[in-house]
Amino acid sequence: MGPVLGIESSCDESAAAVLDGTGRVLAEAVASQEREHAPYGGVVPEIAARAHLALLPDMVRRVMAQAGLAFPDLGGVAATAGPGLIGGLIVGSQLAKGIAITHALPYVAVNHLEAHALTARLPGLVPGGAPFPYLLLLVSGGHCQCVAVEGVGNHARLGGTLDDAVGEAFDKVAKLLGLGWPGGPALEKLAAGGDARGYDFPRPLAGRPGCDFSFSGLKTAVAQEVARHGDGALPAGVAADIAASFQRAVADVLADRARHAMVILAGKTKLLVVAGGVAANAAVRAALTDAAAANGYTLLAPPVRLCTDNAVMVAWAGIERLRLGLTDTLEFAPRPRWPMNQLSRSAP
Ligand code: KG4
Ligand code: ZN
Repeated sequence: MGPVLGIESSCDESAAAVLDGTGRVLAEAVASQEREHAPYGGVVPEIAARAHLALLPDMVRRVMAQAGLAFPDLGGVAATAGPGLIGGLIVGSQLAKGIAITHALPYVAVNHLEAHALTARLPGLVPGGAPFPYLLLLVSGGHCQCVAVEGVGNHARLGGTLDDAVGEAFDKVAKLLGLGWPGGPALEKLAAGGDARGYDFPRPLAGRPGCDFSFSGLKTAVAQEVARHGDGALPAGVAADIAASFQRAVADVLADRARHAMVILAGKTKLLVVAGGVAANAAVRAALTDAAAANGYTLLAPPVRLCTDNAVMVAWAGIERLRLGLTDTLEFAPRPRWPMNQLSRSAP
């Protein structure tokens, strides 16, 4: 198969990548829009869509040039078509469709969650590629779920968050502690100087059956603790202890929920894959490594640049689909909501 161009624009990362037919990365680029959204303390959909429009056409030209390719050399074009912010999804999808129609190339409408899920199968991460099925824990700013990844287009959701996504909880607690946005990395840094046993925050749903998550009670407990200290900035030591204790509670909850999922899938797989921005957190990785080992699983945590939003995973999901003949028509409309159990797959 010829090389595949991937485009990502579902949230606040504009990204493009070109992979050869075996999944080797020929060129990749990611531009975070953090600076544009930071003054508002979160992603502003209209600003995101405009930024994608400003950034992506040049970025696509650049990765194609770096790969030493012209559009007719491609074997296909893949773009994230959902779930995500509709403005950005339209920008990326239209760009991909324009290239596909001009050069008569196959087009693949990629589900962003499936792209995160299939990253584990990129050549070079697991010798021989991660075999289906495996357990995926997707922990990002927009998603928090346990998924049994059984095949391309074949995913069973074992559980998900009942309220906030875990990255969202990091961002909200970081805001309570007076940190900038996005809060996860700043909170992790602050937590490094704190005592994780300083505060005994709740571990919502821990020990309960199933694999659902909840973070609103934990967030409220942190808010109440912060409020107890009155107005004004928290003493530095207190802020660090709160950050460390919150991070510990999140890591414990994720490990507990993953443990339940591992038991559900016992006998089917021994591989636990973690993806999404929160997978960058060292305390979370350590807790998941221990939980995996205790259940006879191996944890695969791809490099951070492949855990956060990127276009390598989109191009790779495109390659997996193209290999199975799973292409989409140019009529495919981007979908802000697009659950993983509603994907196309080849007949068994
Ligand atoms: O996967 P991602 O880049 O974008 C989507 O949400 O799809 O994830 C971003 C989220 C943000 O909420 C950010 O605060 C969180 O991941 N995050 C972290 C860390 N790095 C990023 N959370 C905790 N610790 C980190 N080191
Ligand atoms: Zn994502």
